Amino acid sequence: MGDLYAVILAGGKGERLWPATLERPKPLLPFGGQGRSLIRATYERVLPLVGGERVYLVAARGLSELLAAELGLPEGQLIVEPFGKNTAPAVGLAALVLGSRDPEGIMFVLPADHRIEDEDAFRRALRAAARAAEEGYLVTLGIRPTYPATGYGYIEGGEPLLEAEGYVIHRARRFVEKPDRKTAEEYLARGNFFWNSGIFIWKFSRILEEIDAHLPGLSAALARLRSHLGKDTWEAALREAYARAEGTSIDYGVMEVAERIATIPVSFGWNDLGDWHAIWEVSREGPDGNARFGAETAEVDAKGNLVFSLARKRVGLLGVEGLAVVDSPGALLVTRRDRAQEVRDIARAFAAREPDWGELYKLDAHGMLRVIERFPEQCREALARGRSEALPRGLSGFTRIVVVGMGGSGITGDLLALALPEVEVITVRDYRVPGFIGKETLLIGVSYSGNTEETLTAFLDGLRRTDRALGISSGGRLAELCRERGIPWIGIPQGFQPRAALGHLLFTLLGALEGLGCEAADVDEALAVLADMADELVPDRSPNRAQELATALRGRIPVIYGVTGITGPIAFRWRTQINENAKQPAFSAELPELCHNEIVGYELAGELFPGLARVFLRTAHDHPRVALRAEILKDVLRRRGLGFVEVWGEGEGRLAQALSLLYLGDWLSVYLALLNGADPTPVVPIAELKERLAREP
Ligand code: PA5
Repeated sequence: MGDLYAVILAGGKGERLWPATLERPKPLLPFGGQGRSLIRATYERVLPLVGGERVYLVAARGLSELLAAELGLPEGQLIVEPFGKNTAPAVGLAALVLGSRDPEGIMFVLPADHRIEDEDAFRRALRAAARAAEEGYLVTLGIRPTYPATGYGYIEGGEPLLEAEGYVIHRARRFVEKPDRKTAEEYLARGNFFWNSGIFIWKFSRILEEIDAHLPGLSAALARLRSHLGKDTWEAALREAYARAEGTSIDYGVMEVAERIATIPVSFGWNDLGDWHAIWEVSREGPDGNARFGAETAEVDAKGNLVFSLARKRVGLLGVEGLAVVDSPGALLVTRRDRAQEVRDIARAFAAREPDWGELYKLDAHGMLRVIERFPEQCREALARGRSEALPRGLSGFTRIVVVGMGGSGITGDLLALALPEVEVITVRDYRVPGFIGKETLLIGVSYSGNTEETLTAFLDGLRRTDRALGISSGGRLAELCRERGIPWIGIPQGFQPRAALGHLLFTLLGALEGLGCEAADVDEALAVLADMADELVPDRSPNRAQELATALRGRIPVIYGVTGITGPIAFRWRTQINENAKQPAFSAELPELCHNEIVGYELAGELFPGLARVFLRTAHDHPRVALRAEILKDVLRRRGLGFVEVWGEGEGRLAQALSLLYLGDWLSVYLALLNGADPTPVVPIAELKERLAREP
């Protein structure tokens, strides 16, 4: 007999398992028995039959990485589809890839998300099916019906063909679509109709022959693809092949029309776990028949309910029967179990509810969107202003810059450090400057309003140590103080929120520092990249990356990961912009440090805080070991079923890549504000706190 291969297919939206499938694809849900995910159970079930090296996974990009991480499957055993397109292309693709190496090999096609009680019986059935496949049959496992199901297709069994492993393999007369209730009852009574399990067994060469005979589009696509096997051109060719292939199921496209079809009637406790009722059936416990996943329940007079929670939530059930209660970070389902089939309608109803951006823009009463749109111009204008400043020669000759500033102004110091990697730039967000600074230091006081008490106090503290100093603000006490003391001061336009004047603060300083011999590299490139991004991210531009990201983060607590020295401050800016614009919590952390602490927090994150959303900010300038760390962290997250998003900087240089990420974050935070129902501009709590402080001299 040819070698045996298990090909696990994963796809489908799992809409009837809403809202759990919003968080995790169905194969990763913990319904495989003994706390295992469905795909792990599928994998372990077939391992003794084929061995670890001959288990392959077919899934679309994105999903395939998640599932492979769950199984620890090496890349060579992954067959990545460019996008999901039903089972016929997936089967054809696997048969092409594996059959090109071993045409007479036998393929078990296994959906990733079925449950099987008697695993020995299952493996015996597959072995028996392989015997029939060896003789050229296309074999399907036919489940002996236990009730007149209307939710499955049926196979009508014909005369017996052969016997193996204690099973009788029958010719399959025909495949029939899901019947109505009356027909299903007839099928049950006749005894030779079996549920179509979607588990198939055939030789690679045979299924490819049948695809050639019945699916001309797929056949032609596979034929073209063959010459790209193992080459760099594979991905592009595959995308094209998938675009051309028929997006049909293997049942409909081949099994219903092919010759030499066989079926093995089996009854090993099969369930495709299609909805919450099916899940309850295989997991109810105790005399009251309640089933619980994740939740800690207290039950009083409650029977036949299912409770599922992604977080370790306490759920009380009082006087209820036959319910499914399904909790996820962003959504909650409460339904009667006997209506579980209709949950798909709920999933679709929500999916159809796209945000009405036109309405949401009206929340932006103070015009933050417009200010963000003009950010590239603001930077350009500011650079010209800075370059036109003639700072006294006496300021030059410093070996260090200390920037004192808070909040939206303080970030200027971090970004100066990023833009001027050759100069030591320290940002002080405090009332005092460090004791080690002296005359070699250029002290820069940055306060948009000019009135921030920590900044003013630290500036005065710094002035005791160095007389190389400079102030920048839109006015306020800082301007007065500089005038009184004869310190150079640069004025920037009034009327902005401090965080929205970052271009004025940063680029004015960059321009001015050029005159003192500090020139940032790649400034022009950075400005050009920002201008392109403004076109791409403005309201009404669709699709809009920033809006998509905001939608993905809605209702979550974002944790933004940057890299020390480059995107670390950008991650911090995302966090503070999300705080101030979107009025919600957000946190940031830096690589590599987070590999020494935060990573441990992943252990219980899924159970305790499933609502966190991690975002990696990446650039091509990350240290190679840091880049490797990011890859490993992503893998660790995937293995724990924890989601993340990764965004890459644009352009070539460090500054362009970092600022492009900053700008994306600014847009995202404003869109998130609108999704949160908030006007992005006012920051009432900051103003209130400042007022209270002002009352206490
Ligand atoms: O964004 C804000 O409004 C704050 O973070 C301010 O920037 C912060 O309070 C410091 O004020 P200023 O920038 O005027 O010095």
